[in-house]
Amino acid sequence: MGNYQRVMVIGAGQMGSGIVQVAAQAGCEVVMQDIKEEYTERGKRTIEASLQRFVKKGQLSEEETAVIMGRVTTTTDINQAKSAQIVIEAATEQLAIKKEIFMKLDQIAPKETVLATNTSSLPVTELAAVTNRPEQVIGMHFMNPVPMMKLVEVIRALQTSDETFNGVMKFAEQLGKKPVAVQDFPGFISNRILMPMINEAVYCLYEGVAEPEAIDEIMKLGMNHPMGPLQLADFIGLDTCLYIMEVLYDGFGDSKYRPCPLLRKYVTAGWLGKKSGRGFYVYA
Ligand code: CAA
Repeated sequence: MGNYQRVMVIGAGQMGSGIVQVAAQAGCEVVMQDIKEEYTERGKRTIEASLQRFVKKGQLSEEETAVIMGRVTTTTDINQAKSAQIVIEAATEQLAIKKEIFMKLDQIAPKETVLATNTSSLPVTELAAVTNRPEQVIGMHFMNPVPMMKLVEVIRALQTSDETFNGVMKFAEQLGKKPVAVQDFPGFISNRILMPMINEAVYCLYEGVAEPEAIDEIMKLGMNHPMGPLQLADFIGLDTCLYIMEVLYDGFGDSKYRPCPLLRKYVTAGWLGKKSGRGFYVYA
């Protein structure tokens, strides 16, 4: 187990395309699936642009880039899961959509295939429960930008078998990542700690304690964070940050996870961060 060569990734967005890239760089044959061809095409362009950054630094040659891209095929047909040894789902962060995908994958994929989700906060145990192979369902939570970030948070659903868990830990290492295991509770570890920090930074702005630049500068220079919390929130997407805070709030029922009203207001306005051109900062 764990030596997966044929990989399928569901979702060609920022995370999906990043996962496709690292798997192809590690020598896997990867199918990138999304519901529209324009999404898979955009995903391919994202991968090409990222690989070019490595070429510029002399870490990859143009020939190697071509070989890597040659390992990537795109499709809008989820039925291609029939030849995958592992499927990593990186679709929209909505439980109903993910459940539907897992039910379909369970019908299509061979019975040995592992079904992983890149969810950042949704219950892996609940996704496992909609399949007939709950012991082969697991969370593989990659960090953005996937090609640069070392961590894969590996989430064990209540039902995940030792065999699946050990195989996926090995696979993450095969991708050049450092897997770290956690249990399935709201927000796991990464977002349970990160999101309340971001939410608190938004509260500081909301209460007029300091300007966005000052808040970020303090956390960058004072705590050695590569990005300040508001800059990072813009990078992740304010809708995603709000969604995860709601998962924590609902999941624990504790007021310490109450999303900041200002965060909610920005999302309502469509100020979603970098991807929409405006969040706590304005992007050209
Ligand atoms: N592909 C390839 N290379 C990339 C890249 C990408 N997508 N993005 C950045 N890089 C490379 C750049 O080429 C550059 O390389 P060199 O230093 O070797 O020249 C390097 O990364 C640094 O990039 P920049 O100089 O452009 O900018 P930076 O120094 O600010 O680094 C960063 C960018 C790596 C993103 C850094 O700011 C960082 O680590 N930020 C924090 C990211 C983070 O916290 N991610 C987790 C988000 S939470 C999440 O993902 C989980 C969730 O569920 C919400």
